[in-house]
Amino acid sequence: MIRQIGVLTGGGDCPGLNAVIRAVVKTTLTQYGWRVSGIEDGFEGLVFNHTRPLKLEDVRGLLPRGGTILGTTNRGNPFSMRVPRGDHFETRDVSDQVVANFRALELDALIVIGGDGSLKIAHELIAKGLPIVGVPKTIDNDLMGTDITFGFDTALATATDAIDKLHTTAESHHRIMIVEVMGRNAGWIALEAGIAGSADAILIPEIPFRYEPLEAMIALRDRTGRKFSIIVVAEGALPVGGAEVYQAPARAGQLARLGGIGAEVALELERRTDREARTLVLGHLQRGGSPSAFDRLLATRFGAAAVHLIANRDFGKMVALHGWRVASFPIADAISKLKRVPPDGELVRTARDMGIVFGDETIERG
Ligand code: F6P
Repeated sequence: MIRQIGVLTGGGDCPGLNAVIRAVVKTTLTQYGWRVSGIEDGFEGLVFNHTRPLKLEDVRGLLPRGGTILGTTNRGNPFSMRVPRGDHFETRDVSDQVVANFRALELDALIVIGGDGSLKIAHELIAKGLPIVGVPKTIDNDLMGTDITFGFDTALATATDAIDKLHTTAESHHRIMIVEVMGRNAGWIALEAGIAGSADAILIPEIPFRYEPLEAMIALRDRTGRKFSIIVVAEGALPVGGAEVYQAPARAGQLARLGGIGAEVALELERRTDREARTLVLGHLQRGGSPSAFDRLLATRFGAAAVHLIANRDFGKMVALHGWRVASFPIADAISKLKRVPPDGELVRTARDMGIVFGDETIERG
C-alpha cells in the first residue's frame, strides 16, 4: 500500500523540472491522497536526510519557473560519493544508507527526474530493492527510449535565437561566427538549432569533420557575395583523427567538462582564410529560463504519468514520449546506450538538402 512517495531531481538542471514537480504533487494529492516528500539536491538528500513535505501551496506558480526548487547536483552518486570524514573527504559507497533512509522516511516509492547519469543510479538502487520510476530530463535529448526529453525544446529555442542574433553582426563585419552549444556526445542541439537558425555549417560529435570542406564552403560563399558564415559546433565535436576538447578533466564523481572546440575551429579557420572569426559559447544559458509551452506540456504529462506508474506498481520504468503518446520504457534499456544523431538520418539529410556543410564532404572550390 502506498502512503507516501518521494521525488528528486538529479544531474544538470533543465527547463521544465519545476513543472514536473508541480505535476507530481498535484496528481498525487488530488488523485491519490498520498503524501509527497521532496528530496533535496538529488540523491544527496537521501544520504543526508534532507527532505521536506510538498503540499499544493509549495508548487503554486511553479509551471513557468526554470531550475528546480528541490536543488540538484551532478556529484551525488551514492555508489561513489565524496563524504566528509574528520578533516578530509573520502569517496565511499553510501548506497546502503540511501536504502536505510528511504525506509526510515517511510517512503513507498520514489520518482527520479534525471538524465542518463541519474537513471543509472536509479537502476542500481532498483537492484537494491527500491521501488523507483523515472522521468527523463536533459537538454541534450540523448536518452534512449523516449522520442524527446523535456528541456530540449527550450534549449533549442535559446540556441536558435542566438544564431538569429549572430547573423546580423556576422554580416556587418564579414566575419565567421562560431556558436558552441551543449550536448556532450550527442549533436541534437547543434543539429536542430543549426537547421532552425540557417547555419552554414554544423559540426557534431557523430560526424568527425575536416577543415577543407569548411574552407571551401567559406570561399564559395565569398565568391557569391556572402562574406560571412555561421558555424554551429557541438561541444563534443571533433576533427577526423583528433580528439574532443576539454576544459577540465574528470574528478571524483564528476565527468570531464567539455568546452573549447569553438575557439579551436575559429583559430584554424582564421589561419586558413582571410576572414576574422569569433566564437560564442552559449554554455549554461541553454539550461536556464522559462520552459517553452512544449516543455511545460511535456513536463506536466510526464509528471502526472509517473504518478500513475506508481499507482500501477509499474516500477523500474520511466515515462516516455512515443510519437504523441505518453508511454513507459524500462530504465534498464534507456541507459543501455546513448541516443546519438544518426549520421544518415532524415535530419542530417535535410540539413544537407539546405546546403549545410558537416565537414565530411568533398566540396569543389570552383
Ligand atoms: O547534460 C547536460 C549538460 O548541460 C551538457 O550538455 C553539458 O555538457 C553538461 O551538462 C554541463 O554540466 P555542468 O553543469 O556540470 O558544467
